[in-house]
Amino acid sequence: MLVLEQLQRRFGEVVALDRLDLTVAAGELRGFVGPNGAGKTTAMRCAVGVTTPDAGTVTWEGRPVDLEVRRRIGYMPEERGLYPRMRVMEQLVYLARLHGLSAAAATANATHWLERLGLSARRDSAVEELSLGNQQRVQLAAALVHDPVLLILDEPFSGLDPIAVDVMSEVLLERAAAGVAVVFSSHQLDLVEDLCRSVTVVDAGRVVLRGDVRELKRAGDRRLRVAVDGEPTWVAALPTDTEVVDRGNGEVTVALGARVDPGEVIALARASGPLLHVRLEEPRLSELFRDALQDRLRS
Ligand SMILES: Nc1ncnc2c1ncn2[C@@H]1O[C@H](COP(=O)(O)OP(=O)(O)O)[C@@H](O)[C@H]1O
Ligand SMILES: [Mg+2]
Repeated sequence: MLVLEQLQRRFGEVVALDRLDLTVAAGELRGFVGPNGAGKTTAMRCAVGVTTPDAGTVTWEGRPVDLEVRRRIGYMPEERGLYPRMRVMEQLVYLARLHGLSAAAATANATHWLERLGLSARRDSAVEELSLGNQQRVQLAAALVHDPVLLILDEPFSGLDPIAVDVMSEVLLERAAAGVAVVFSSHQLDLVEDLCRSVTVVDAGRVVLRGDVRELKRAGDRRLRVAVDGEPTWVAALPTDTEVVDRGNGEVTVALGARVDPGEVIALARASGPLLHVRLEEPRLSELFRDALQDRLRS
């Protein structure tokens, strides 16, 4: 298990990490989400030892992340890190060797990942000759080629086309199912919600939401989305423990506290005009994030 505990890091006046905790267990696919500037890249750099925290600890299986552990990490840095002129196959074999694999194992692994990611035909191309999407695939192959037990990927989905997003998602799920501890950062909460079982959501260097996605959603306020034919004047009479969280295109979204009866709110809406549509849903992760931020501002 990877454990980041109470990490603190400042850059001058900027507090990038403010007692941040993050864990990733073997076999887990954890989404590490938050808006730009939240501290995701800094935390991941601390995890792989590229950045040193001002305070706090980073351990893998209870031990500090030393050179031996680092060899077993697959890291995709935000700034990416391939040699543009080197040929794809050559580069992957080189990286695998750098992580301690034998020549035979390195070649076998590089061949496997090029095939798996649909890059076999480009094995002898220089990286700079590839499309951006294919360069991203090589980046992923580079993070995987030495059979890491821990995968740390910084924004692996950014800039991917929809097909590449599917390939990336499949590979991450597959690696986690194979027992690898996988964590990736993203600023897209919707993507993470659909892909991951567990999440850590950060803002301004702090964890604002963490846990099992399904449990978080179940514990959050339900959303009732209602549209009536006519002005939604009914919202003025909403019962307590409800809140209008969105409105647009004639549709009103109301967050319902645990004890609120959705039927009561629907009846209220009907009094303003005929119903066009009604939907009762669990909250999206992005909505829970917004709720958590608001709660923090209020407290
Ligand atoms: N090397 C650095 N020098 C100065 N400020 C930095 C540096 N790295 C990160 N920061 C600042 O720390 C904060 C967190 O950045 P970062 O970890 O990159 O967030 P994220 O990856 O979530 O977008 C931001 O305010 C960023 O500007
Ligand atoms: Mg970042």
